[in-house]
Amino acid sequence: MGFDASSLPVFPWDRLEPFKRRASAYPGGLIDLSIGTPVDPTPEVIQAALQAAADSPGYPATVGTAALRQAITDHYRRCRGVPDLPEDAILPTIGSKEMVAQLPSLLGLGAGDVVVHPTVAYPTYDAGACLAGATPVPADSPEEIPAGLRGQVRLVWLNSPGNPDGQVASIERLDGWTRWARQAGAVVASDECYAGLAWEEPWASAGIPSLLDPRVAGGSLAGKLALYSLSKQSNAAGYRAAWLAGDPELVGKLTGLRKHMGMIVPGPIQAAMVAALGDDSHVAGQRQIYAARRSVLADGVSQAGYVLEGSGAGLYLWFTTPDRQDGWRTVEDLASLGILVAPGAFYGEAGNPYVRMSLTGSDRDVAEAAARLTGA
Ligand SMILES: Cc1ncc(COP(=O)(O)O)c(C=O)c1O
Repeated sequence: MGFDASSLPVFPWDRLEPFKRRASAYPGGLIDLSIGTPVDPTPEVIQAALQAAADSPGYPATVGTAALRQAITDHYRRCRGVPDLPEDAILPTIGSKEMVAQLPSLLGLGAGDVVVHPTVAYPTYDAGACLAGATPVPADSPEEIPAGLRGQVRLVWLNSPGNPDGQVASIERLDGWTRWARQAGAVVASDECYAGLAWEEPWASAGIPSLLDPRVAGGSLAGKLALYSLSKQSNAAGYRAAWLAGDPELVGKLTGLRKHMGMIVPGPIQAAMVAALGDDSHVAGQRQIYAARRSVLADGVSQAGYVLEGSGAGLYLWFTTPDRQDGWRTVEDLASLGILVAPGAFYGEAGNPYVRMSLTGSDRDVAEAAARLTGA
């Protein structure tokens, strides 16, 4: 049986359109903070590498060039506390969203299999499970999985720092889930695309732990997959530049399938990724830019009487009202100020009383949004 498109929910952002129209009617114009799409220029070093690699007549390798694989292992050693990732543990992906959506299918999951994802989560974990015909189950700990379904779990998604709520998984938490998944016969996949954006301690000093960290479950890569993306850290969402890394046996199987499918990161993008990964200074600079925007927006939101929760890392502010009103009402209230945010309900039932505000506005828009929030 092919997949059943009707099992997918309506694409959530289509439901924001009426609020976007309303916000656009505000005299000063729309400030759209509903989507985490970078707005600052792609760094020159990355653009130059892309241009220099424009002559690309042959097919690129699905596993990536040797230079890219080396750049990724170097990145894990320098930035993520993973000293010796083997070369055959890496698979470039065309952005990470496609891999989030396809992983359950590529792992061969289907009817009767359970895919666990966080209770407040990026909607593509659920969509990917549905595309495979598997059953998505929201749970933040193994105990939250209904007892009758625990034996059917084949994939556990973790997302740290979390979209939308900015929660960070500690080494202990990563370790606990991995050990549980191993005994359940499940793969554990950690989506770490906001790992460069830690704001609060201890993560700001220690860094966001990776699932591939040697302290997680005895350091063995068995059953572990981690996803990372250059979309946010390098303002390169348009490049679709990302990868998956982890258990070499699983990575080998996924690579074999993707060779058949032609799911290959274009050669010039691979070259641009090498340049991006070789230059940590633009990453640090962008981080500073988001830190400043975050502080302006967090002050504005708090002064307007909203209550921030989580939000200690990642690209978003996650907040509610003191009486925890329905998130759609907060969307409406903010749309009346010309500010568009995403309702927490987009991220699961547990997200309902919250809204998500992205830090990806220009400095001007961020200052203007704060002014509107505080009535300044
Ligand atoms: C949690 C999470 N995973 C994956 C993605 C996809 O990122 P990309 O496909 O640009 O790599 C996003 C994008 O916002 C995200 O928030």
